[in-house]
Amino acid sequence: MSSSEEVIINYQNINKKYGNHKAVIDFNLEVNKGELIILIGPSGCGKTTTLKMTNRLIKPTSGKIYVKGEDTDKINPVDLRRSIGYVIQEIALFPHMSVEDNITVVPKLLGWPPKRRRERAYELLNLVAMNPKIYAKRYPAELSGGQQQRIGVLRALAADVDIILMDEPFGSLDPITRSQLQDEFKNLQEKLHKTIIFVTHDMDEALKMADRIVLMRSGKIVQIDTPDMILRSPADSFVKDFIGKDRLTRSPDEVLVNEVMYTDPITIRPRQGLAEALQRMKSRHVNGLIVVDSDHKFLGIVTLRKLQENIEEKGKSVENIMTTSSTIGENQTMREAVKIMADARIEYLPVVDDQKKLKGLITRASLVDILLDHIWIEEGEKKE
Ligand SMILES: Nc1ncnc2c1ncn2[C@@H]1O[C@H](COP(=O)(O)OP(=O)(O)O)[C@@H](O)[C@H]1O
Ligand SMILES: [Mg+2]
Repeated sequence: MSSSEEVIINYQNINKKYGNHKAVIDFNLEVNKGELIILIGPSGCGKTTTLKMTNRLIKPTSGKIYVKGEDTDKINPVDLRRSIGYVIQEIALFPHMSVEDNITVVPKLLGWPPKRRRERAYELLNLVAMNPKIYAKRYPAELSGGQQQRIGVLRALAADVDIILMDEPFGSLDPITRSQLQDEFKNLQEKLHKTIIFVTHDMDEALKMADRIVLMRSGKIVQIDTPDMILRSPADSFVKDFIGKDRLTRSPDEVLVNEVMYTDPITIRPRQGLAEALQRMKSRHVNGLIVVDSDHKFLGIVTLRKLQENIEEKGKSVENIMTTSSTIGENQTMREAVKIMADARIEYLPVVDDQKKLKGLITRASLVDILLDHIWIEEGEKKE
């Protein structure tokens, strides 16, 4: 970890005993500012206890938790709790309060004037695409489960806290709403960069959302790693089982373009000559070049065939013979990539960002290894 990262929560040798029962054992973790940490593990492994010790709803039996360098033992617990957002599964919106009032409970406690509270509620509702003109005055009972849970999340964000604790916040939702809220929350987090400790027992949720996953078992940390590393090198057979056996042979719906693309495709500029292009293809052993401008923006593709057809014509440059092409985004799935390539009958599919800058390349050849068995076998089985 680079030294420029700021540790915002530091758990040092935390233990929690209930009588003789050890609920949390020697928990050590440094959480960096802006990180989304997911605590995961089977029921009863100590996730909720750990979370509640963070804002001192539960007092550790031993050990220290520092928040922004301050010993939480020495901060007034009420002040500590108000400075940390907290979202739980049993949403617990106040039924007799409007959405707006529910969102701004903590700002009100902090003495924000009404105008500022309203502005904040409206701003937050807009963030999750709930029109404030429609929703601000509604009551919880008039909202769907997913909407209520969104309000629960907004309430935790309302006071502009920079740390949020979330205990299975989407646990009670149906799978579709749940997945929708996960996506929304991920987008929100990309904008807001809060420091988040998020508890779940759902590995899919953890892999999708976490910067780092903390896997617990019987009160102890078994592994702390990025989702990618957890998948690639599970610490032991417990982790392996917890991930699930078939996750490493993922379907094309789960494999993202940026996991399999070539990140350094051979490029050429539009004004370069055809002989030069041919030379580059030969020396790099490819039969296509990606044409980019000086900003590395994608312009087109030159294929070997097109080049051979035109090579005799003097004065032509790459831009005269390049062809346009469909493109795909890094975070799209390989299934989408396959579909585009099949529909457009293309060999090369450039991967671009939202400014059209070239990020990589999917080739038909690279697809074969990765997808052949999945797609063809799968589709074949479906037809039977
Ligand atoms: N108030 C309590 N009194 C006694 N035991 C408790 C209490 N709260 C939790 N425990 C026990 O501590 C362990 C961890 O609980 P918890 O943190 O709620 O687990 P998780 O959130 O991972 O499901 C469990 O064995 C649970 O039974
Ligand atoms: Mg729990």
